[in-house]
Amino acid sequence: MRQLVYISTAAPDLDQVDIANILEASSRNNPERGITGFLIFNGRNFLQLVEGPKNSLDALMANIQRDPRHSGVVRLEENPITERLCEKWTMKQLMLADSIDTREASLDQALPEALAARVRRTILNFASLN
Ligand SMILES: Cc1cc2nc3c(=O)[nH]c(=O)nc-3n(C[C@H](O)[C@H](O)[C@H](O)COP(=O)(O)O)c2cc1C
Repeated sequence: MRQLVYISTAAPDLDQVDIANILEASSRNNPERGITGFLIFNGRNFLQLVEGPKNSLDALMANIQRDPRHSGVVRLEENPITERLCEKWTMKQLMLADSIDTREASLDQALPEALAARVRRTILNFASLN
């Protein structure tokens, strides 16, 4: 299995309905592909962690990369894993606290405990960007 983390820039006209549609497609498709993970949206950028079999991730990333709801997909992490971190999440939307001061602490709590320290740091840094 693999774990992949990427960031991207949301389309300028992206709204809550788009986010809901993305999450709806994820819960429809991800279980049969063995994909789990989470999605963070800070109002401008996405950060997504996906985990699952390499073939499933390759297919998903091919779809995601040509999705017009965002652009500029940059992979930050791609790691082999032996166990899932997000077992129960077909694609959880992790919400960011409104106040940037409390974002880091609340997201830190929400992230899976077993997340590697380096990956956790990368995600927390993203969340603190305005
Ligand atoms: C930021 C972002 C994250 C996405 N994550 C997923 C995902 O985890 N699973 C998924 O099936 N589609 C995801 N999508 C949507 C895919 O790009 C694509 O629209 C969808 O897989 C098509 O599914 P459908 O053929 O069942 O309609 C994501 C799109 C964006 C913009």
